[in-house]
Amino acid sequence: MIPRSTVILGTGSYAPERVVTNEELSRTVDTSDEWIFSRSGIRERRIAGPNEATSDMGAAAARRALEAAGLTPADIDLLVVATITPDMPMPAAACLIQHKLGLPSTAACFDLNAACSGFIYALDTACAMLTSGRYRKALVIGVEKLSAIVDWQDRTTCVLFGDGAGAVVVGTSDQPAIGLLGTRLGTLGVNVDLLYIPAGGSNEPATPETVAAGRHCMKMKGKEVFKLAVRVMDEAAREILEQQHLRADQISLVIPHQANLRIIEAISEYLELPMERFFVNVDRYGNTSAASIPIALDEARRSGRIRAGDITLLVAFGAGLTYGSALIRW
Ligand code: ACO
Repeated sequence: MIPRSTVILGTGSYAPERVVTNEELSRTVDTSDEWIFSRSGIRERRIAGPNEATSDMGAAAARRALEAAGLTPADIDLLVVATITPDMPMPAAACLIQHKLGLPSTAACFDLNAACSGFIYALDTACAMLTSGRYRKALVIGVEKLSAIVDWQDRTTCVLFGDGAGAVVVGTSDQPAIGLLGTRLGTLGVNVDLLYIPAGGSNEPATPETVAAGRHCMKMKGKEVFKLAVRVMDEAAREILEQQHLRADQISLVIPHQANLRIIEAISEYLELPMERFFVNVDRYGNTSAASIPIALDEARRSGRIRAGDITLLVAFGAGLTYGSALIRW
């Protein structure tokens, strides 16, 4: 039978132990706590240990989500991992996570790259596969080890990013109008050069020269990204509300991608929704790309900021330039 709805059964997250403060960064690059906090709202970020891989963090978050859902790895037949920092270019981080978690060999496991919008893309993909009736229970993970692709000499980017993982277990329900109500995904590929890693792919394979020039690290035009981020997140939020015939004031909590507090404040102003309705943890984690929304979702759930009947809005933008929004009724 084709299920009517897809619902989140449990959430989990994982943050590496090591906390790196703005003050600590100011000892290695020409920056200050005052500059970083006033421009981004970031106070500190977590950085993975040298032997801690993306797949380790993703598996840790997934174990917590499974526990919260009261399920075991044997129950999962679909794993979608959103990441731009898989352990290695091949195979997918999902394959390593499948092995670490002990998911069945019959589970479909793959990675998806939509940068910071990755979790919303992955959630939409998993939910569409579940509503096809061909899968029963999915794990959706957003995980990043951005410390591995950041140029630690470049103060314009290295202060903004961090590592971590978040996960959700998704199942089906015969109840209508519950769980994932809808999504609005989009892409502005014309803006690829605003945020990208030039080398290390098939277009410019890594060589001693590309590595020496730092071309395997993230490059960003911060100001342009900022302006576009505000515009596309505002539009994506409005469009999903319109699609679902809801008003902004019916949203109990917005979980935006945690890139910059000023971007979140601008969205709050544009949507005329007070900041109390926005979940913010960018001060503690920085930008963790695909992990940012599922980490925030897990913290919001565990701290009681999401209750039965609430409607949550997820909204993100990322390299690509990708964007997406989703509405969830709990
Ligand atoms: N410390 C001190 N000074 C710095 C630093 C730093 N860490 N970084 C840059 N500066 C300097 C610059 O060199 C520049 O100096 P100049 O004017 O002499 O050339 C100046 O500060 C720029 O300052 P502002 O114009 O005030 O910077 P702005 O307000 O644009 O803030 C920021 C910069 C924080 C990067 C902002 O533009 C931003 O957040 N953009 C969005 C970035 C983002 O969200 N990226 C994630 C995308 S999602 C994904 O897919 C990964």
